[in-house]
Amino acid sequence: MTKKLNRRDFVRTTTAAGIAAAAASKPLFGQAPTVMTPKSVKPCVVASSNGNRSKDADGVTCVAKAFKMMTEGADVLDALVAGVSIVELDPNQTGVGWSGLPNADGVVQLDASCMHGPKKRAGAVAGIEGVRAPARVAQLVAEETDHHLLVGKGAQDFARGMGIKIEEGLINETARKQWLEWKRRTDPLHYLDPKTRAQAWYDAGMQMVREGLIDGEHYWGTINCDAVNAKGEICGVTTTSGLAWKIPGRAGDSPILGAGLYVDGDVGAAGSTGRGEANLYNLSSFVIVEEMRRGAHPKDAAMTALKRVAKNTIEKRLLNSKGQPNFGLSFYCLNAKGEYAGVAMYESTYAVCTENGPQTLQTDALYAGRPTD
Ligand code: GLY
Repeated sequence: MTKKLNRRDFVRTTTAAGIAAAAASKPLFGQAPTVMTPKSVKPCVVASSNGNRSKDADGVTCVAKAFKMMTEGADVLDALVAGVSIVELDPNQTGVGWSGLPNADGVVQLDASCMHGPKKRAGAVAGIEGVRAPARVAQLVAEETDHHLLVGKGAQDFARGMGIKIEEGLINETARKQWLEWKRRTDPLHYLDPKTRAQAWYDAGMQMVREGLIDGEHYWGTINCDAVNAKGEICGVTTTSGLAWKIPGRAGDSPILGAGLYVDGDVGAAGSTGRGEANLYNLSSFVIVEEMRRGAHPKDAAMTALKRVAKNTIEKRLLNSKGQPNFGLSFYCLNAKGEYAGVAMYESTYAVCTENGPQTLQTDALYAGRPTD
C-alpha cells in the first residue's frame, strides 16, 4: 500500500532528494568525494621492506603469504596478520615482535594495530610485554571487545585471557647484548640533568646506527602491511617493538589509529615505519587516506604527509646539517583501485606482492641521501 504523504513529509522527502542530487553533483561543504570501489580490483599487498625479507619455514615472505591467503579467499585482515607474524616471529628481526630491541630498562614492549575496512572495526595494543606477535592481539581487541586500544598490563591480561601464551622475561639474546652496549654508553651517572641525558640516549643510539651495530631501519623497527583483495576489501596492520631504548611506557605511532595505521574501507589504507613521534604529531596515515579520498594517487597523498612532517620539524636536535629532518619516516599505502606506493623521507625500499609475485622496490623519496648527512 502506498503511504499518503502529508505536507511535512513531502517537504522532508523532497529536501532530502535535493540534498542527494546536490551531493552527487558537487561535494558538500567540508566533505570530499569518496573514491568509489570498483567492481573488480587487481589484488595487491604492500608493506615495509621487511615484508619481503623475513621468511617462514617454507621460505615464504609476509607479502607473499598475505597475497596467497587473500587470493585464496581468506579474510584480508586474517591474511595480513598471518603475513606479519612471519616478521614478528623472525629471531633476526630487531624491530618487530619479541626479538625487537628492548626499552631503556631492557624490557621488550610491543605495539600493534589493525583495521578492517569492510567491518569498520579496529584494535590496538601498546606497551604489551611477554607476547611474541602482538598483531594477533590487536586483531583480538578488534574482534572481541568494544574498545580500540589496550595498554600495558591490561593488554597482557587480555591476551592471556584470549589464550595467547605469555612468556616472562621474553628477550632475544642479540637484542639483550645490544641493550647492554647502549647501557654502557649512557651510564646515567655521567649526566647531570634529565634533558642532557635524554639527548645522550638519542645520540648514543644514532651513533650505534652509524657504527653499524644496529640496523638503522630497525632503530624504530616496525612492519606495516596493507592489502586490497579482488572485491576491493581493504585492511591494514602495523606491528613493532617500537623505538629502541625508549623510556618504559613510551607508545609510538604504531598502535594509534590515524598515525601508524589508517584504513577507510571505501578509500584506501596507509601505514608507517620510522620515527613515531614525528608521525604522531602529524597523524599522517589519516592525512594520507583523506588525501586519497580527495582523489590523490597514493604516492602524492603520502608525499603531502611527508612534506607536512618536514615542515613541522623545527627543533635543531631533529635537523641535519642541511636543515632537513635527521630521521627516517616511510609510508606504505594503497587505494581501493589497487594503486599503491611506498614513499619515504630518504631513499629506501619497500615490499609489494601482486599477481606478478613478491618484489622489493625503491621508495619515492622526499630527500636524496641519508638522514644523518
Ligand atoms: N614507528 C614505530 C615507532 O616509532 O614506535
